Amino acid sequence: MRRGPGEASLRRRRVPARLLVAVAALVTCTIWLWSSSTDLTLTSYKAQDVDVNKLWRTANSNGWRASSAPRSYWPPPPTESETNGYLRVRCNGGLNQQRTAICNAVVAARIMNATLVLPELDTNSFWRDESGFIGIYDVPHFIKTLKYDVRIATSVPDIITNRKAKKLKAYQIRPPRDASVTWYTTVALEKMKSYGAIYLTPFSHRLAEDINDPEIQRLRCRVNYHALRFKPNIMKTSSEIVNKLRSEGHFMSIHLRFEMDMLAFAGCIDIFTPQEQKILIKYRKENFAEKELVYRERRLIGKCPLTPEEVGLILRALGFDNTTHIYLASGELFGGKRFMRPFKAMFPRLENHSSVGPGKLEENTRGLAGSAVDYMVCLLSDNFMPTYDGPSNFANNLIGHRLYYGFRTTITPNRKALAPIFMDREVGSTAGFEERVRQVMMKTYIGGPHKRIHPEPFNTNSWPECFCQENPRNHADKCPPDNIYEVLENQFRSEENEESIEVKATSQTDSISQTEETVI
Ligand SMILES: *[C@@H]1O[C@H](CO)[C@@H](O)[C@H](O)[C@H]1NC(C)=O
Ligand SMILES: *[C@@H]1O[C@H](CO)[C@@H](O)[C@H](O)[C@H]1NC(C)=O
Ligand SMILES: *[C@@H]1O[C@H](CO)[C@@H](O)[C@H](O)[C@H]1NC(C)=O
Repeated sequence: MRRGPGEASLRRRRVPARLLVAVAALVTCTIWLWSSSTDLTLTSYKAQDVDVNKLWRTANSNGWRASSAPRSYWPPPPTESETNGYLRVRCNGGLNQQRTAICNAVVAARIMNATLVLPELDTNSFWRDESGFIGIYDVPHFIKTLKYDVRIATSVPDIITNRKAKKLKAYQIRPPRDASVTWYTTVALEKMKSYGAIYLTPFSHRLAEDINDPEIQRLRCRVNYHALRFKPNIMKTSSEIVNKLRSEGHFMSIHLRFEMDMLAFAGCIDIFTPQEQKILIKYRKENFAEKELVYRERRLIGKCPLTPEEVGLILRALGFDNTTHIYLASGELFGGKRFMRPFKAMFPRLENHSSVGPGKLEENTRGLAGSAVDYMVCLLSDNFMPTYDGPSNFANNLIGHRLYYGFRTTITPNRKALAPIFMDREVGSTAGFEERVRQVMMKTYIGGPHKRIHPEPFNTNSWPECFCQENPRNHADKCPPDNIYEVLENQFRSEENEESIEVKATSQTDSISQTEETVI
């Protein structure tokens, strides 16, 4: 049994990225080569063409490793006297939509030379979770990891008016969707300068994802893959689940997005009973814009989430058998057991966080924390399959995180290409079914480094910005020196001295190991 790097680093936390890469490099027959060579071979794939064992390993790194340290002069964040003001944001949505918003908030604070107030998480949404940022994330780690990037405060400061201390009142703005950098450095900055603090709400998708500055994009990776670490209790629960699953060999995780909200959003309702359809239509009316949605058409353009049965058929076509150990990350599945039955018949070894977790898990894993545990288990599993990556922030962020975290295998079905194959099967033309499925599946990337091509979001693939090569052909790809954070530390110190502001020095080994450690 192969022991994945993830498990080790969860226990020890400080495994250098090199070790992860070394593990990846040990994988000799590479999935990358295998998948790219399929473009050369012609039509037919038999079961023996897919070596299912390869799908349990990480993809070949091809000489690349993750690195999001700055590669050019990176000035320290403003001091207390230099800051342009305080930035407050209120994130909304599920765990991962909020995670992306936190990354955006850090970037926004950086480009405005502002002091970031610890982002507020949505507490009264769908998730009914009151824990907030400090209930989910490790705050000291967050602040420490980003100390070269932004000033972070836990709250807006008090101001003294008429000898009374009052919280500085932040000027509230509703930012435009995907606002540009210029919006932040003009409109928002002007208000910040005149009021001392601004409050951006709602704050989801409020900063353009494509920013043409690799240093800024690398900052996003530092936030997403290094600074944002879940609290110790969440890490511990996740680690217990992963260890338990690993003790029986390798395991796969599947994000089975077959929940009411997503099905209503996608509008793929024909497979449900009239009663279920009524529920979905009602939910859709109440939550989403009206739009005529024709099932067949939606399906053909890849907009329908895969059913559990379809997921099972894909896995079987790839050669996974009924001994495969599967962890399901999912909310409540819509349509109940009827949809799970055919999947369970193919893959009986199914687990989820209630079936495998420690006894008291239920209490700990409601709302965002439960989603966080699922996230960690999916990040550390030997391979991962999202069934709906469209607007699913959970799947998207994991795809990107697994790539960063040592090119971990991710099986992403191309729903659009698969739809006609499933539709043929439903009307009885089953000839060559598995071979056709394999043909589609072998054309997708499964975790190796590959260039991001629009409209692929940065979130799912931060290559090339957040990756580098030790021995590059192209100088721009070269890995920054290992002591980059020492360099920054010195810069930081000398500027502090100039300003004669007292800051407690933190140990260097700490910051260095944090830099290139591929943190979770
Ligand atoms: C932020 O500070 C840097 C210098 O550290 C400066 O070059 C930049 O123009 C400042 N930006 C804003 C918006 O104040
Ligand atoms: C798994 O499949 C084999 C045949 O390939 C069958 O003999 C066995 O009973 C199945 N096991 C389970 C648990 O369904
Ligand atoms: C988790 O697994 C248990 C036991 O197999 C099952 O009863 C429960 O419904 C599952 N929960 C979810 C959310 O699928």
